[in-house]
Amino acid sequence: EKRHKVTVIGSGNWGSTISKIVAENTKEHPEIFEPEVHMWVYEEDVVISKDSPHYDESVGDQPQKLTDVINKYHENVKYLPGIKLPSNLIANPSVVDAVKDSSILIFNLPHQFIDRVSAQIKGKIVPFARGISCIKGVHVTDEGISLFSEWIGDGLGIYCGALSGANIASEIAAEKWCGTTIAYDPPPMDSSRNPSPRATTPIRSSATDPDINLSITPLEGMQHKDARGRTSKTKLVPVPSEYPPLDHETFQTLFERPYFLVSMVSDVAGVSLGGALKNIVALGAGFVVGLGLGDNAKSEIVRRGLLEMIKFGKEFFKETVQPETFTIESAGVADLITSCSSGRNFRCASHAVEQGVSVAEIEAKELNGQKLQGTTTAMEVHSFLKVHNMEKDYPLFTAVNDIIEGKNTYQDLLQLINKRRN
Ligand code: NAD
Ligand code: 13P
Repeated sequence: EKRHKVTVIGSGNWGSTISKIVAENTKEHPEIFEPEVHMWVYEEDVVISKDSPHYDESVGDQPQKLTDVINKYHENVKYLPGIKLPSNLIANPSVVDAVKDSSILIFNLPHQFIDRVSAQIKGKIVPFARGISCIKGVHVTDEGISLFSEWIGDGLGIYCGALSGANIASEIAAEKWCGTTIAYDPPPMDSSRNPSPRATTPIRSSATDPDINLSITPLEGMQHKDARGRTSKTKLVPVPSEYPPLDHETFQTLFERPYFLVSMVSDVAGVSLGGALKNIVALGAGFVVGLGLGDNAKSEIVRRGLLEMIKFGKEFFKETVQPETFTIESAGVADLITSCSSGRNFRCASHAVEQGVSVAEIEAKELNGQKLQGTTTAMEVHSFLKVHNMEKDYPLFTAVNDIIEGKNTYQDLLQLINKRRN
């Protein structure tokens, strides 16, 4: 019997937290997983301050490689300070080396960086690997919109599911209790334990960066049908029978902790869209709170945001999306509540209004290298809606975009959404 090697691609605030979770579980389940987990780190220099417990007189304030610091002190001092990481978690600065021999790939980095990283590992991964995308965003080009799970899967020739939920990383890293949703729905060829109908999304797209060639190379494997009955270009290679199956049970075992409860579903589109679109709503919620309009106004933004999220899902992913995912799953309504209470998008938006500066200025000043996803997602979704001439049908998404782009001011928000209300 072989075991699955697990790699996490990304090591930011959430990337490091998910790495901690899966490394705790691989250690507890050596019958399914190789205990050692590699975490790819975008290498950078860090200086350890004098007041840190890791300050070393002999190094002083000389810059050190972040990977060396993580592997020495088992702490990501820059993106997840104060949290002890398991010693079976290895920080690796080479993404190609980190994914070598891994049959489970977890993608967890800000969405603006995934194109380049995917291009680097294309053709260098185990052909029967399966992925889980923890990325909250959508991939938009002139050709259309796709989910990151779908875009990563098609680009690399593998199947990729999605994890999303009401999951503020720092709370989970401190082992505070919460739930999450994992959508995973490969064709039945993978396992007989959880065969379920295939769920993919209708619109496909390609990389925006002309330097990157992510065209799909057929692998030796089986073709499968997507949700609209079309034959997918990706030929999936079945997981060899010497390995434990890569099914719901295995992924639940990999991700669930006593403080992190996993709900397994098959609606990849709903889970992915919930995580992406709530970031636009969180910016709107931050704007109204920054304007001093209070909790009733914030709740009205959340309500309208939820309606626009469901409408967007039904309009553009109707073959697969299940509206209940938005209303009953952690990846839907719960993530909206959390993100509009203390998420980074919400906080930066409210501080930007209070200080009369742009959200980008607050992001650079307050987040110490962490990246907002809402500002880029607002602009990407808007450019997609514009192509379809549907900006007016999504008054909140459009208003948030127009404010981020500087076409309107924060003070215009209510007027914009009242005027364009459905
Ligand atoms: P983060 O905001 O902490 O981002 C910083 C990361 O980006 C660092 O690892 C940094 O090394 C990396 N980076 C910087 N420049 C880069 C480059 N040029 N190429 C590649 N990497 C580069 O990241 P995060 O919080 O781990 O977010 C990852 C995803 O998880 C996002 O889609 C986010 O929406 C989602 N998410 C975040 C949280 C949270 O609470 N932080 C919770 C749930 C989901
Ligand atoms: P922010 O990126 O706005 O902090 O949201 C984190 C998150 O996704 C919580 O579920």
